[in-house]
Amino acid sequence: MSAQFELRELARADAQRCAELEQILFPGDNPWPRDVFAVEFSHPTTFYLGAFDGDLLVAYAGLAMLGPAEDPEFEIHTIGVDPDYQRRGLGRVLMEQMMHAADSHDGPVFLEVRTDNDAAITMYEAFGFRTLATRRNYYRPSGADAYTMQRDRRSDRLGEKK
Ligand SMILES: CC(C)(COP(=O)(O)OP(=O)(O)OC[C@H]1O[C@@H](n2cnc3c(N)ncnc32)[C@H](O)[C@@H]1OP(=O)(O)O)[C@@H](O)C(=O)NCCC(=O)NCCS
Repeated sequence: MSAQFELRELARADAQRCAELEQILFPGDNPWPRDVFAVEFSHPTTFYLGAFDGDLLVAYAGLAMLGPAEDPEFEIHTIGVDPDYQRRGLGRVLMEQMMHAADSHDGPVFLEVRTDNDAAITMYEAFGFRTLATRRNYYRPSGADAYTMQRDRRSDRLGEKK
């Protein structure tokens, strides 16, 4: 990621811009409105991060921690990069931050992705995700199918005893 961009944790004031990007990136798949982002940001077990070009939010991603605090698992709730800023390493940087958070708790990470989303699937596979299952008609209103993908906890990837 170039020095042009700054990473910051997202706050309520960023919710409107996230909703705008969602409209562009997920038009047929029930894009989240501002209020959903505002609730997500306020939740104590979610971690939302954005990349800014000056004052403009150009990429965002959110991770949720689930289950018992001593043995949590994680879910990627969303990740998106402004089309004008894609293929410049921002998705990778946001993924690295989220995977670092999950690895620091030694938790596995799950996500859903459209089965036709080659760009995202390629990125997730590069981070060690593998497909667990296909969920038919997962997205609304498009009716598109999803893959559920999992990235193993750090100790399993390294072959360590937990
Ligand atoms: C998926 C997405 C977040 C990737 O963000 P990005 O900033 O463009 O990705 P990066 O430049 O960091 O690329 C990281 C890796 O992803 C993969 N990738 C990204 N775009 C790709 C494309 N169009 N085709 C194939 N692979 C792609 C590559 O492996 C790439 O690594 P490389 O550059 O070394 O080849 C972006 O395409 C996006 O916002 N898509 C729309 C929203 C979306 O689908 N989100 C995921 C929902 S599950």
